[in-house]
Amino acid sequence: MCGIVGYIGNNQAAPVILDGLARLEYRGYDSAGMAVFDGEKLNIVKAAGRLKILEEMTHGGSALKGCVGIGHTRWATHGIPNEENAHPHFNENETIAVVHNGIIENYIFLRNMLQKKGYQFLSETDTEAVVHLLDYYYKGNPLEAIRKVLHRVEGSYALGVIFAEHPDQLFAVRKDSPLIVGQDENGCYIASDVPAILKYTRKVTYVDNQEIVRLRGDHMHFYSIDEEEIQKESVMIEWDANAAEKGGYEHFMLKEMYEQPKAMADTLLPRIKGQDVVIEELNMTDEELASIRKIYIVACGSAYHAGVTGKYVLEGLSRISVEVDLASEFRYRNPVMEEGAMVIVISQSGETADTLAALRESKKRGFRVLGIVNVVGSSIAREADSVLYTWAGPEIAVATTKAYSTQLMALYLLALKFAKVKKTVTDQEFPGLLEDLKKLPDQIELLLSNKNPIQRFANRYIGAKDIFFIGRGIDYAISLEASLKLKEISYIHSEAYAAGELKHGTISLIEEGTLVSAVVTQPELYAKTISNIVEVKARGAFVLAVTNEGNFEIEKAADYVIYIPETNPYFSNSLAIIPLQLFGYYVAVGKGCDVDKPRNLAKSVTVE
Ligand code: AGP
Repeated sequence: MCGIVGYIGNNQAAPVILDGLARLEYRGYDSAGMAVFDGEKLNIVKAAGRLKILEEMTHGGSALKGCVGIGHTRWATHGIPNEENAHPHFNENETIAVVHNGIIENYIFLRNMLQKKGYQFLSETDTEAVVHLLDYYYKGNPLEAIRKVLHRVEGSYALGVIFAEHPDQLFAVRKDSPLIVGQDENGCYIASDVPAILKYTRKVTYVDNQEIVRLRGDHMHFYSIDEEEIQKESVMIEWDANAAEKGGYEHFMLKEMYEQPKAMADTLLPRIKGQDVVIEELNMTDEELASIRKIYIVACGSAYHAGVTGKYVLEGLSRISVEVDLASEFRYRNPVMEEGAMVIVISQSGETADTLAALRESKKRGFRVLGIVNVVGSSIAREADSVLYTWAGPEIAVATTKAYSTQLMALYLLALKFAKVKKTVTDQEFPGLLEDLKKLPDQIELLLSNKNPIQRFANRYIGAKDIFFIGRGIDYAISLEASLKLKEISYIHSEAYAAGELKHGTISLIEEGTLVSAVVTQPELYAKTISNIVEVKARGAFVLAVTNEGNFEIEKAADYVIYIPETNPYFSNSLAIIPLQLFGYYVAVGKGCDVDKPRNLAKSVTVE
């Protein structure tokens, strides 16, 4: 996903912009650029490749003089990653420059219209249509030109805009793609996300949809698309700057794996009152909760996998029927939804376009939407009817670990809350379930402390062609996540299968030495999954089993066994995923992959 940084103040802009863009690298990108006003004209420098190239071209920014500028890291959507397609884009006489995150959906229409009016396009991007449209409407008043453009463009955008004729101002505009602004004694800042400006200020303001911000060196004003000036509340960012740094770990991903115990405890403990689960953020009475007969969980990627686990746990403990859907499917399949159902959207970033669209579709249909979100103040958090925050802290690595684990914790809490109000769990059973939840952070800590054998085992598979993950029931849900972890950071082909499905086709892929990971944590399914292990072994597979301490029988079938501590079977995913996260991580490290910023991926997919 693209990164935007802008600055106007009494310091040189370019170094501020480069530093901010570097803190947004985790979002994934393939080119970068800056535009800085030097007192006479806009100087624009762009380059394909990593930010380092832009830094070298501008001597760390010192070659670009001026105190107002905008910068961008581009994650290509329209047009290949090259210098022409890199942002900022500019008008013909280079008096207006624009950086953009999002997709202008009617850009072809706009491009054709502008070309008929004589505009020349230098790039293949959708963004370039915006800057020429600004040029078309600009008659000396930047705000008026911006408003006219916003009435013409369709799609999602976070924009940074600079006008050479108004170098005392910088503009930020937002619709659907995230954008924040902040201020300190040295000036005002625009950014796509908090880490870019946290070193300057903790006080940030989230720009809402179709709002325009005019920033000057010492103050800023907010406007709606309909002319009037508006007042905005700021948010104090609580997490510290080094929370967004590596803290001595080789990768953010490893650091965030080791933050899982604290993240789980931070998400759980504030919601435990005595022997009860209290989730005030739900804003629902016990009677309203007890009346829920159907839940739809909608998300993408790992958040979707958390939802699959959530289905098993919610149905198992509260006997509420749960459907889980990929947000990109849900939003277009015109779903048949039961009256009175609750919709739960899950999202770490709170900005995933498909998940946000699913939230809006559900609300349009009159359904109550709960968001399970990690980023405070994000779009999904602000548009959901209620938010159950996962207190994982900032997650920088593209491959989610701690946020995913806290999503599971949030779902466990919901399942227990529903079970309590629906009395589907007895008063005798409830305290034991709570105790099992409270033990999870320490049990995760214990599993993390045992990383060396997993690292050694992982090193055997850095050359693997295919690796499969199988499980039954909730063990299938965790296999989905384990498989995604491996493939998204090591680029090794991997698939997760319901273990009972193997004989319906997949088993034909098993060859001599193929690694198959089998998660076996559900006592009533042990025998069934062990028979699947025997099936794949008979075809030459090497089987890694992840199972409960004490299930030693499995050593007769599996080749390599990792034991996880005893917990309630409904919560076992939180433990089984730990060695499998470590496995994926060490395979990727062994292959020399860019673990925190895997190729082609972005931390938050704010485009369709
Ligand atoms: C998981 O490791 C990936 N980063 C990706 O699948 C991610 O979970 C998905 O894009 C959803 O993101 P969100 O939780 O921010 O909505």
